[in-house]
Amino acid sequence: MRVAGAGRCTVVVGSQWGDEGKGKIVDVLAEEVDIVARYQGGANAGHTVHVADGEFVLHQIPSGILHADKRCLIGNGVVLDVARFFEEYDGLANRGIDLDGRIGVSLRAHLLLPYHRWLDQAREEAASSQIGTTGRGIGPAYEDKAGRRGIRVVDVHAPERLAAMARAGLERARAAFPDRDAAGLAEELEGALSTAPRLAPLTTETGEEVWSALQGGKHVLLEGAQGTVLDLDHGTYPFVTSSTTTAAGAATGIGVGPTAIDEVLGVVKAYTTRVGNGPLPTAFSPEMDERVRRLGGEFGATTGRPRRCGWFDAVVGRLAARVNGLTGLAVTKLDVLDTLPALRIATGYRTPAGLVESFPADTALLDRVEPVYEELPGWQANTSEARSLADLPAAARAYLDRVEELLQVPVRMVSVGTRRQQIIRT
Ligand code: IMP
Repeated sequence: MRVAGAGRCTVVVGSQWGDEGKGKIVDVLAEEVDIVARYQGGANAGHTVHVADGEFVLHQIPSGILHADKRCLIGNGVVLDVARFFEEYDGLANRGIDLDGRIGVSLRAHLLLPYHRWLDQAREEAASSQIGTTGRGIGPAYEDKAGRRGIRVVDVHAPERLAAMARAGLERARAAFPDRDAAGLAEELEGALSTAPRLAPLTTETGEEVWSALQGGKHVLLEGAQGTVLDLDHGTYPFVTSSTTTAAGAATGIGVGPTAIDEVLGVVKAYTTRVGNGPLPTAFSPEMDERVRRLGGEFGATTGRPRRCGWFDAVVGRLAARVNGLTGLAVTKLDVLDTLPALRIATGYRTPAGLVESFPADTALLDRVEPVYEELPGWQANTSEARSLADLPAAARAYLDRVEELLQVPVRMVSVGTRRQQIIRT
């Protein structure tokens, strides 16, 4: 057992449909930690961080990389797009970030190869009910993992086995869509596999690293990607991603037990957004949708797709509080609401069978529910310079208090802009 109180392990988890601003929150917290580790997902994520040198969008490398000397790990729960990983690695190095000795990749993580992307795109084009994936190959890579035919990072240490398994994977993909153009796919695969000698020296056992860091009194931050309602089990299935995005996924996706986790910080936007298909019960009217999308710059960091926007949904928030065991909330983009005269929060859904206050399992039902809203006054004042709760207008504090009360989770951080210093700690 770990000596109680020795180190500290914090999970940062998306508590809506992704894009909550986890990148910014992780970047702020990274200052105080020794290790930042990603535990699931892959290049579908797009974590945006604004620093003095400009904007960085991180897809697979943990957001902690922008703080010198922090060790950044990619856990076993990730599906690593190895070609894109090195593009990102080189892109950071070209911008002056020193990565030497700072990145570790789990031997147990699965490789996402070009044929996974090809399959993802083929399926999206063929399917009658499209998921609206990011097209990054996430579903097919996790299918190979669950189907026990995946290629793991450990296989880069056995080049012949790696090549044979990759050839078999390519053939399976081609056989699934024999009529689809596969020109260039074999060359792309060769290109991805040629990175193996670069990947080999970065490999590690992330569970062991994190465990010994915690035993040595260090602080570890486990960075989630996507969000609670995109979780394979708890989200709006089938309009979900293929991994466990919730806090439990942090333990299994890094290689430590749940008792190693000390706190779980749920990141929520002060309103709601969703990219990709699937229900969004609190969706705005088209006019408000347009307005908030513009105010909040709500376009996907990975795909550039416009995000659908809506009111804060406490039904989703309560689900997130429960399935993640949230111990605190980080509310982001509060400043985006600065000009709105009135705000709404959904507290329940009216369904043909009556009022529900917990998130229904029937995804089709979610298209037909009518949210029950509480209306709160807007503050119509600039919050972007606030650095403490006392600096906020009373109506903004009342809004945060109501979120806290409805979710029964204390607000620990409030973000009021894209820059690092635009943050309130409570
Ligand atoms: P996939 O993860 O690419 O398979 O996409 C499945 C669903 O998750 C789609 O609705 C995507 O738009 C959504 N999704 C995946 N990654 C992200 C993310 O990082 N932010 C927001 N939505 C995401």
